Amino acid sequence: MKKRKNIITIAIDSPAAAGAGTVAKNLAQHYKLFYLDTGKLYRLIGKMKISNKNTNYKMIKYKIKNLKISDLNKIELLNNKVAASASIVARDNNIRSIVKNFQILCAYNPPRNFKGSILDGRDITSVIMKDAMFKFYITANLKVRAKRRFIEFKKLKKKTSYNQVLKSLKKRDNLDKNRKHSPLKRTEDSILINTSKLSKKACFLKIKRIIDKKLNINGNI
Ligand code: C5P
Repeated sequence: MKKRKNIITIAIDSPAAAGAGTVAKNLAQHYKLFYLDTGKLYRLIGKMKISNKNTNYKMIKYKIKNLKISDLNKIELLNNKVAASASIVARDNNIRSIVKNFQILCAYNPPRNFKGSILDGRDITSVIMKDAMFKFYITANLKVRAKRRFIEFKKLKKKTSYNQVLKSLKKRDNLDKNRKHSPLKRTEDSILINTSKLSKKACFLKIKRIIDKKLNINGNI
Protein backbone atom coordinates (compact mmCIF):
# COMPACT_ATOMS: atom_id res chain seq x y z
CA MET A 1 0.00 0.00 0.00
CA LYS A 2 1.26 3.46 -0.91
CA LYS A 3 1.47 5.76 2.08
CA ARG A 4 0.83 9.49 1.82
CA LYS A 5 4.07 11.36 2.41
CA ASN A 6 4.70 14.26 4.81
CA ILE A 7 1.68 13.72 6.95
CA ILE A 8 1.41 13.98 10.71
CA THR A 9 0.63 10.61 12.30
CA ILE A 10 -0.41 10.24 15.93
CA ALA A 11 -1.02 6.89 17.64
CA ILE A 12 -2.69 6.63 21.03
CA ASP A 13 -3.38 3.61 23.20
CA SER A 14 -5.29 3.67 26.44
CA PRO A 15 -7.58 1.69 28.71
CA ALA A 16 -11.27 2.65 28.49
CA ALA A 17 -12.40 6.07 29.71
CA ALA A 18 -8.92 7.46 30.29
CA GLY A 19 -9.68 10.54 28.21
CA ALA A 20 -7.98 9.41 25.01
CA GLY A 21 -11.01 9.95 22.79
CA THR A 22 -11.60 13.50 23.98
CA VAL A 23 -8.01 14.57 23.58
CA ALA A 24 -7.72 12.81 20.22
CA LYS A 25 -10.75 14.71 18.92
CA ASN A 26 -9.32 18.00 20.15
CA LEU A 27 -5.93 17.27 18.61
CA ALA A 28 -7.58 16.23 15.34
CA GLN A 29 -9.43 19.51 15.16
CA HIS A 30 -6.41 21.56 16.11
CA TYR A 31 -3.94 19.98 13.65
CA LYS A 32 -6.57 19.20 10.98
CA LEU A 33 -6.12 15.45 11.23
CA PHE A 34 -8.45 12.61 10.31
CA TYR A 35 -9.61 10.94 13.53
CA LEU A 36 -10.53 7.28 13.91
CA ASP A 37 -11.80 5.90 17.21
CA THR A 38 -10.84 2.28 16.52
CA GLY A 39 -12.82 0.97 19.51
CA LYS A 40 -15.95 1.81 17.54
CA LEU A 41 -15.03 -0.83 14.93
CA TYR A 42 -14.98 -3.51 17.62
CA ARG A 43 -18.15 -2.09 19.17
CA LEU A 44 -19.89 -2.31 15.80
CA ILE A 45 -18.93 -5.97 15.49
CA GLY A 46 -19.81 -6.56 19.14
CA LYS A 47 -23.23 -5.10 18.42
CA MET A 48 -23.65 -7.33 15.35
CA LYS A 49 -22.98 -10.35 17.59
CA ILE A 50 -25.56 -9.19 20.13
CA SER A 51 -28.20 -8.67 17.42
CA ASN A 52 -27.41 -11.96 15.69
CA LYS A 53 -25.55 -14.77 17.46
CA ASN A 54 -24.79 -16.36 14.10
CA THR A 55 -22.83 -13.40 12.74
CA ASN A 56 -19.88 -14.90 10.87
CA TYR A 57 -16.60 -13.60 9.43
CA LYS A 58 -18.13 -13.18 5.97
CA MET A 59 -20.85 -10.90 7.35
CA ILE A 60 -18.30 -8.92 9.36
CA LYS A 61 -16.04 -8.52 6.30
CA TYR A 62 -18.97 -7.27 4.27
CA LYS A 63 -19.92 -4.77 6.98
CA ILE A 64 -16.39 -3.40 7.30
CA LYS A 65 -15.91 -3.25 3.51
CA ASN A 66 -19.04 -1.13 3.16
CA LEU A 67 -18.49 0.89 6.29
CA LYS A 68 -19.26 4.59 6.39
CA ILE A 69 -17.53 6.62 9.09
CA SER A 70 -20.95 7.90 10.17
CA ASP A 71 -21.93 4.29 11.10
CA LEU A 72 -19.41 4.60 13.93
CA ASN A 73 -21.14 7.57 15.52
CA LYS A 74 -24.32 5.72 16.38
CA ILE A 75 -25.38 6.20 19.97
CA GLU A 76 -26.40 2.53 20.23
CA LEU A 77 -22.69 1.63 20.34
CA LEU A 78 -22.25 3.50 23.63
CA ASN A 79 -23.29 1.15 26.41
CA ASN A 80 -21.75 -1.41 28.77
CA LYS A 81 -23.30 -4.37 26.99
CA VAL A 82 -21.88 -3.44 23.59
CA ALA A 83 -18.51 -2.56 25.16
CA ALA A 84 -18.34 -5.97 26.84
CA SER A 85 -19.23 -7.72 23.59
CA ALA A 86 -16.59 -5.62 21.75
CA SER A 87 -13.96 -6.77 24.21
CA ILE A 88 -14.87 -10.39 23.54
CA VAL A 89 -14.85 -10.15 19.74
CA ALA A 90 -11.56 -8.19 19.94
CA ARG A 91 -9.82 -11.32 21.26
CA ASP A 92 -10.42 -13.07 17.95
CA ASN A 93 -7.42 -12.58 15.69
CA ASN A 94 -9.47 -13.20 12.52
CA ILE A 95 -11.67 -10.28 13.47
CA ARG A 96 -8.61 -8.14 14.23
CA SER A 97 -7.26 -8.93 10.74
CA ILE A 98 -10.55 -7.91 9.14
CA VAL A 99 -10.44 -4.44 10.73
CA LYS A 100 -6.69 -3.97 10.34
CA ASN A 101 -6.71 -2.84 6.69
CA PHE A 102 -9.42 -0.29 7.31
CA GLN A 103 -7.40 1.20 10.17
CA ILE A 104 -4.16 1.25 8.16
CA LEU A 105 -5.89 3.00 5.30
CA CYS A 106 -7.21 5.71 7.65
CA ALA A 107 -3.79 6.02 9.31
CA TYR A 108 -1.59 6.30 6.24
CA ASN A 109 -3.98 7.46 3.53
CA PRO A 110 -6.32 9.89 5.25
CA PRO A 111 -8.57 11.92 2.92
CA ARG A 112 -6.65 14.69 1.11
CA ASN A 113 -8.33 17.48 3.02
CA PHE A 114 -6.61 16.32 6.22
CA LYS A 115 -2.97 16.95 7.12
CA GLY A 116 -2.58 13.57 8.71
CA SER A 117 -4.25 11.11 11.01
CA ILE A 118 -4.83 10.30 14.64
CA LEU A 119 -6.05 6.90 15.80
CA ASP A 120 -6.78 5.70 19.30
CA GLY A 121 -7.38 2.20 20.62
CA ARG A 122 -5.51 -0.66 22.29
CA ASP A 123 -2.97 -1.81 19.68
CA ILE A 124 -2.35 1.37 17.71
CA THR A 125 1.17 2.07 18.98
CA SER A 126 2.14 -1.62 18.98
CA VAL A 127 0.56 -3.00 15.79
CA ILE A 128 -1.40 -0.60 13.57
CA MET A 129 0.88 2.48 13.50
CA LYS A 130 4.22 1.18 14.73
CA ASP A 131 6.04 3.96 12.90
CA ALA A 132 3.74 6.83 13.89
CA MET A 133 5.45 10.18 14.29
CA PHE A 134 3.95 10.51 17.79
CA LYS A 135 2.99 7.76 20.20
CA PHE A 136 1.16 8.22 23.48
CA TYR A 137 -0.11 5.91 26.20
CA ILE A 138 -2.90 7.69 28.03
CA THR A 139 -4.13 6.33 31.32
CA ALA A 140 -5.85 7.27 34.59
CA ASN A 141 -6.68 5.37 37.73
CA LEU A 142 -9.66 3.03 37.59
CA LYS A 143 -11.94 4.96 39.96
CA VAL A 144 -11.40 8.23 38.11
CA ARG A 145 -12.18 6.52 34.82
CA ALA A 146 -15.32 4.88 36.22
CA LYS A 147 -16.54 8.21 37.56
CA ARG A 148 -15.98 9.92 34.21
CA ARG A 149 -17.75 7.18 32.26
CA PHE A 150 -20.64 7.14 34.75
CA ILE A 151 -21.14 10.89 34.30
CA GLU A 152 -21.06 10.47 30.50
CA PHE A 153 -23.73 7.76 30.73
CA LYS A 154 -25.86 9.95 32.97
CA LYS A 155 -25.71 12.76 30.43
CA LEU A 156 -26.83 10.30 27.75
CA LYS A 157 -29.65 9.23 30.10
CA LYS A 158 -28.39 5.64 30.14
CA LYS A 159 -29.56 3.59 33.10
CA THR A 160 -26.55 2.31 35.01
CA SER A 161 -24.85 2.70 38.38
CA TYR A 162 -21.32 3.80 39.26
CA ASN A 163 -20.58 0.29 40.57
CA GLN A 164 -21.75 -1.34 37.38
CA VAL A 165 -19.51 0.95 35.33
CA LEU A 166 -16.56 0.27 37.63
CA LYS A 167 -17.06 -3.49 37.37
CA SER A 168 -17.40 -3.35 33.61
CA LEU A 169 -14.22 -1.26 33.14
CA LYS A 170 -12.25 -3.53 35.46
CA LYS A 171 -13.33 -6.60 33.54
CA ARG A 172 -12.47 -5.01 30.20
CA ASP A 173 -9.05 -3.84 31.46
CA ASN A 174 -8.33 -7.42 32.40
CA LEU A 175 -9.49 -8.86 29.10
CA ASP A 176 -7.68 -6.23 27.03
CA LYS A 177 -4.37 -6.42 28.89
CA ASN A 178 -4.17 -10.18 29.20
CA ARG A 179 -5.36 -11.43 25.83
CA LYS A 180 -3.08 -13.35 23.49
CA HIS A 181 -3.36 -11.14 20.40
CA SER A 182 -2.56 -7.43 20.45
CA PRO A 183 -2.95 -6.90 24.20
CA LEU A 184 -3.12 -3.37 25.55
CA LYS A 185 0.33 -2.32 26.69
CA ARG A 186 2.54 0.71 26.73
CA THR A 187 5.27 0.38 24.11
CA GLU A 188 8.72 1.61 25.11
CA ASP A 189 8.54 4.46 22.63
CA SER A 190 5.15 5.76 23.81
CA ILE A 191 4.98 8.83 26.00
CA LEU A 192 3.01 8.16 29.18
CA ILE A 193 0.27 10.66 30.03
CA ASN A 194 -1.63 10.12 33.27
CA THR A 195 -4.86 12.10 33.19
CA SER A 196 -6.10 11.23 36.72
CA LYS A 197 -5.47 14.79 37.89
CA LEU A 198 -5.61 16.56 34.55
CA SER A 199 -8.53 18.51 33.15
CA LYS A 200 -9.39 17.95 29.49
CA LYS A 201 -7.74 21.25 28.64
CA ALA A 202 -4.58 20.51 30.64
CA CYS A 203 -4.27 17.14 28.94
CA PHE A 204 -4.66 18.69 25.50
CA LEU A 205 -2.08 21.39 26.24
CA LYS A 206 0.41 18.89 27.62
CA ILE A 207 0.28 16.80 24.47
CA LYS A 208 0.18 19.84 22.19
CA ARG A 209 3.38 21.12 23.78
CA ILE A 210 5.13 17.84 23.02
CA ILE A 211 3.90 17.80 19.43
CA ASP A 212 4.68 21.46 18.74
CA LYS A 213 8.18 21.04 20.08
CA LYS A 214 8.92 18.25 17.63
CA LEU A 215 7.17 19.99 14.74
CA ASN A 216 8.98 23.17 15.63
CA ILE A 217 5.82 25.16 15.98
CA ASN A 218 6.04 28.26 18.14
CA GLY A 219 3.34 30.66 19.16
CA ASN A 220 0.19 30.45 21.15
CA ILE A 221 -2.22 28.52 19.01
O1 C5P B 1 -12.19 2.12 23.11
P1 C5P B 1 -13.47 1.36 23.36
O2 C5P B 1 -13.82 1.30 24.80
O3 C5P B 1 -14.59 1.84 22.51
O4 C5P B 1 -13.14 -0.14 22.87
C1 C5P B 1 -14.04 -1.20 23.03
C2 C5P B 1 -13.26 -2.51 23.06
O5 C5P B 1 -12.71 -2.76 21.77
C3 C5P B 1 -12.06 -2.51 23.99
O6 C5P B 1 -12.41 -2.90 25.31
C4 C5P B 1 -11.13 -3.52 23.34
O7 C5P B 1 -11.42 -4.84 23.74
C5 C5P B 1 -11.45 -3.40 21.87
N1 C5P B 1 -10.41 -2.65 21.13
C6 C5P B 1 -9.30 -3.34 20.71
N2 C5P B 1 -8.38 -2.71 19.94
C7 C5P B 1 -8.51 -1.43 19.61
C8 C5P B 1 -9.63 -0.69 20.06
C9 C5P B 1 -10.56 -1.34 20.85
O8 C5P B 1 -9.14 -4.51 21.01
N3 C5P B 1 -7.59 -0.85 18.83
